[in-house]
Amino acid sequence: MSIQSAPIDKKITVRTIRERKGREPVTMITAYDALFAGIFDGEVEMILVGDSLNMSFFAESDTLSATLDQMIYHTKAVCKGAKLPLIVFDMPFGTYTTPAQALENATRVFRETCAEAVKIEGGREKAEIVRTLSENGIAVVAHIGLMPQSVRAEGGYRVRGRSEEEIEELMADALALEEAGAFALLLEGMKSEAATRITEAVKIPTIGIGAGNGTDGQVLVWSDMFGFFEAFKPKFVKRYLDGAELIRQGLREYREEVRSRAFPDTEHSY
Ligand code: KIV
Repeated sequence: MSIQSAPIDKKITVRTIRERKGREPVTMITAYDALFAGIFDGEVEMILVGDSLNMSFFAESDTLSATLDQMIYHTKAVCKGAKLPLIVFDMPFGTYTTPAQALENATRVFRETCAEAVKIEGGREKAEIVRTLSENGIAVVAHIGLMPQSVRAEGGYRVRGRSEEEIEELMADALALEEAGAFALLLEGMKSEAATRITEAVKIPTIGIGAGNGTDGQVLVWSDMFGFFEAFKPKFVKRYLDGAELIRQGLREYREEVRSRAFPDTEHSY
């Protein structure tokens, strides 16, 4: 059965997202180029140009080597393809270690791309950075819970919020980042109970990934959800399409037709 919900026909802004708190959940997806961003345009409220591209599209084992220049290049491409969604730029590792450095780099992002917000990873220790950006006209999505940019320091990926103590830590982060001016929180890799309690405690929208069904929205990496990235599939990823297999089928058909000279036929020849 195909499910049809109303297409999105208006430009989504930071204000639109803020107003969705506690209402219809927000749909967010990653994008890295103009072609796919154009397909996603009008179908989702938010696009994240995520540093996950370093793994999904550059075959690195983590996100840490993505650079500001690379992310700007991909964001410019996404901007050409998608006109309606709110576009969020994922600040790469090492580009927001102090408020001054974060402001300089995020200002460059805003000058050179159409990004309307930036995302940074980190808890209450990043509150001053969030404050500086917000006070200088740069909207911030604050990313807490499992933070891929900390994978080397942490020695792996670990689901958070498994104990009351951990939930309280996450809650303190969420409240401090909200107070510092973040307009949304991205909650990654945590027990549903933790994400639901944070969502209830803050006035800003929460977008979850691997954080259960109690958040104000969801985000997925597009190449994961459409089955193009096959190296591994985390438990929280639902595959909505078997993309890699569809492409292989198409390629096999093409190869057969090239070999048998069925392609190009007269319809596809001058
Ligand atoms: O880079 C990324 O794609 C992310 C995910 C949380 C969506 O940060």
